[in-house]
Amino acid sequence: MAISTDSALLTHIIDDLAEQGWSLQPMFAPQALTLELADECRKRAAQGDLIPASIGRGAGQEIREGVRGDRIQWLDAGWSPACDHYLALMEGLRQALNRELYLGLEDYECHFALYPPGAFYQKHLDRFRDDDRRAVSAVFYLNQDWQYQQGGALRLYLADETTRDVQPQAGSLLVFLSADMPHEVLPASRERLSLTGWFRRRGDDPL
Ligand code: OGA
Ligand code: MN
Repeated sequence: MAISTDSALLTHIIDDLAEQGWSLQPMFAPQALTLELADECRKRAAQGDLIPASIGRGAGQEIREGVRGDRIQWLDAGWSPACDHYLALMEGLRQALNRELYLGLEDYECHFALYPPGAFYQKHLDRFRDDDRRAVSAVFYLNQDWQYQQGGALRLYLADETTRDVQPQAGSLLVFLSADMPHEVLPASRERLSLTGWFRRRGDDPL
């Protein structure tokens, strides 16, 4: 299985980001990898490893299911060949973004996310008030045969005041500029799985 992303696909993502601030690639990864990642997410959820996501940072963190109802687990390198393969694809994307758009992205963090039926995430920006390191968001969807009627779209609020609904279809990667794109996750009638991550710039504070 190819460990890197086709360069034409990377070029599409970069051109879309430069032109409109977001990009949707419906066939980002091989189906075998998508299936393995979905199995891994479900296995971890069944073991109880996914915990209710919080909002905010540090001491300001709180769990508010009225704001977001997903359960997450942050991913570490070395968990499985599938996870490492996905991390390698994101590393390729990070390098391409730096090479072509000079974004100075230093690292990448991601988590599995499971939205039980009915769960949602209200309209938000992927940035914390006190931390602007998150520059590019990348959401990879793991749901085979997603049907439009099942809900669960990621609704993007675009600069021209229109919206765009993205279906969480297995194999699709949605990339967008974290600071510029308000978005929300609509409730679904079935479980909704994803691998959501952020490319970050260096922080100003010397921690
Ligand atoms: C998030 C988020 C979108 C999605 O976790 O910040 O907006 O489609 N996720 O899962
Ligand atoms: Mn978000």
